[in-house]
Amino acid sequence: MKKIIITIDGWSSCGKSTLAKQLARELHYVYIDSGAMYRAITLYFLRHHIDWTIPAAVHEALQHIKLEFITNHKNGQTEMWLNGENVEYVIRDLVIAEKVSEVAAVKEVREYAVAKQQEMGRKKGIVMDGRDIGTVVFPHAELKIFMTADEKVRVQRRYKELYEKNPNITLEEVKQNLEHRDYIDSHRAISPLRQAEDALVLDNSHLTMKQQLEIAEGWVKEAI
Ligand code: C5P
Repeated sequence: MKKIIITIDGWSSCGKSTLAKQLARELHYVYIDSGAMYRAITLYFLRHHIDWTIPAAVHEALQHIKLEFITNHKNGQTEMWLNGENVEYVIRDLVIAEKVSEVAAVKEVREYAVAKQQEMGRKKGIVMDGRDIGTVVFPHAELKIFMTADEKVRVQRRYKELYEKNPNITLEEVKQNLEHRDYIDSHRAISPLRQAEDALVLDNSHLTMKQQLEIAEGWVKEAI
């Protein structure tokens, strides 16, 4: 069967990665979480005290970063590795979430990440989620999905996820982080979050995981 590229963009915490994983599993495609790359770069910058407002410092730091997606054979999930270390868990922290949108707005960082993402899609058979995948990374993708959900629903979902790791977290902290990231992501000068003209919109505020998969599967059939 013909292999295609599926892009899933949208606001923070609206279930993009859940849908991307569902589709990749069904279609035996590779799933790439582009946000994990920006999060891993942010982790590196924070650990090494890199000032990301200085282009030369960013350029130099990026030379020392090696990002890999490696499958964990225990659960079949693809995980983010930074310079030989599995950082999948630590990059989900709120400390990273608080800075990642600033780092992701830096030109050198975007050029570095986008080049790697495009290389990963060369053979097609890929589902990639993020903010600019259908608009900038793969503007010719066969299927583009733009996901959205009510803010309240999104805050609750992310709160539940983060609370399991850190019971001291508050709903207000999560809400502020979500709004902050969405604002920066949609207002930055380079590759802002926006819906591609040819994207299909999926609002999953009131959908179950099974329902959202059924809708997307219908779109895949039409695209293949
Ligand atoms: O998808 P996730 O929420 O993990 O992404 C973390 C952050 O990475 C986003 O808030 C955004 O700032 C950045 N990002 C991006 N472009 C992408 C994916 C993520 O700018 N394609």
